[in-house]
Amino acid sequence: MQNFSFHNPTRIIFGKGTLPKLGAEAAKAGKKALLVYGGGSIKKNGVYDAVLLSLKKSGVAVIEHPGVKPNPVLSHTREGVRKVLQNDCDLIVAAGGGSVIDEAKAIAAGARHSGDVWDFFCGKAAIKDALPLFTVLTLPATGSEMNAGCVVTNEKAAEKFSAHGAALFPRVSILDPETTMSLPRAQVANGAVDSLAHLIESYFTTSDRDVQVTDEVVHALARSVVEATGRILKDPADYNARASMMWSATLALNGLASCGYGGTSFPNHVIEHSLSALYDIAHGAGLAIVMPAWFKRHLETAGPERLAKFGAAVFGAKSAEGAITAFEEFFRKAGAPVRLSEAGIPAADIPRIADNAMGLITLWGMKLTKSEVEEILQKAK
Ligand code: NZQ
Ligand code: ZN
Repeated sequence: MQNFSFHNPTRIIFGKGTLPKLGAEAAKAGKKALLVYGGGSIKKNGVYDAVLLSLKKSGVAVIEHPGVKPNPVLSHTREGVRKVLQNDCDLIVAAGGGSVIDEAKAIAAGARHSGDVWDFFCGKAAIKDALPLFTVLTLPATGSEMNAGCVVTNEKAAEKFSAHGAALFPRVSILDPETTMSLPRAQVANGAVDSLAHLIESYFTTSDRDVQVTDEVVHALARSVVEATGRILKDPADYNARASMMWSATLALNGLASCGYGGTSFPNHVIEHSLSALYDIAHGAGLAIVMPAWFKRHLETAGPERLAKFGAAVFGAKSAEGAITAFEEFFRKAGAPVRLSEAGIPAADIPRIADNAMGLITLWGMKLTKSEVEEILQKAK
């Protein structure tokens, strides 16, 4: 087990009927909020009204920043920074899924930076400061509600890059599982795939394979995601399954599930980001395509040990090959694509996708080569 430092300052307020607590929390940080949200799902499921009411009751004024795209884009992020500066907002409230929270984080940091917000994503500047951020999560998937990262796409350059910094941890995140009841089936699937992806990246890339406690945390969270997803797909109104899914997804990428591992990296994510950047595919859908292919290569290059262990603990699989089949079956059952062709991406594009991936691979300092990325994608045809 490797040495580690674990610190997570985000306060989570979890459960049914917790949205009204937002205003009092936000009022501790400021008087005027930029309210960041997406394409309107929060107006249909009651979250928007509840957020406005709670902020108003606590005397927090609101400037709205709607229209965040899934796979949020740089131009809209810059617009958000301008709104904060023009209106003297002193805090940010994000209500939605990972895209909304990520764009809100970028705006929070961009508003405290003298240069362009993209500087944080292309390695030109480090995030030292950010406006206080409060989130209301409506889609369990990314863990953004309790971590210090954000992902934005520079749509002109087709670069889907990430930025990180302790200042990005939300102050408070409100997680009411009832807000997830309105999720379309495809987003339930995307969330399940993404949470599993967060759990497997460090588990499979660790250089230290004797970290029993974290292995067991990963197994338990992965089992919980798989079981909760099955229950949700059967009965979308199953509150306890929604609650279990929501908390599992948060814990999957808040730092807990990689403590003690060494030398980890995010190979599936780095390839998926190119699928999203080039085809605007949902992050979870892209991961469902990449992961089985990556596992096949992992089996060839690293052997069966990790796959067999994970497969037995999570799916009851009897072999490493059985674990890969179980992953694919789970993704298929949830309704996610598992091949490039199923998402309408031609195999002829593989060199172009690999070329695009090299940008982030270099930025993240990973060892993956272009031909290795192509080799993985060939298994995903
Ligand atoms: O646009 P709105 O109206 O909000 O609708 C969204 C969107 O269309 C909808 N939705 C969200 N909650 C809903 C709902 N619809 C009905 N009822 C609800 N309760 O779902 C659609 C997808 O939302 P989005 O926020 O894009 O999904 P997700 O949470 O999966 O976020 C994906 C983004 O997060 C990044 C991904 O790359 C992608 O850009 N990630 C962020 C990470 C982080 N910050 O740590 C890590 C991840 O690995 C990931 O890269
Ligand atoms: Zn992810």
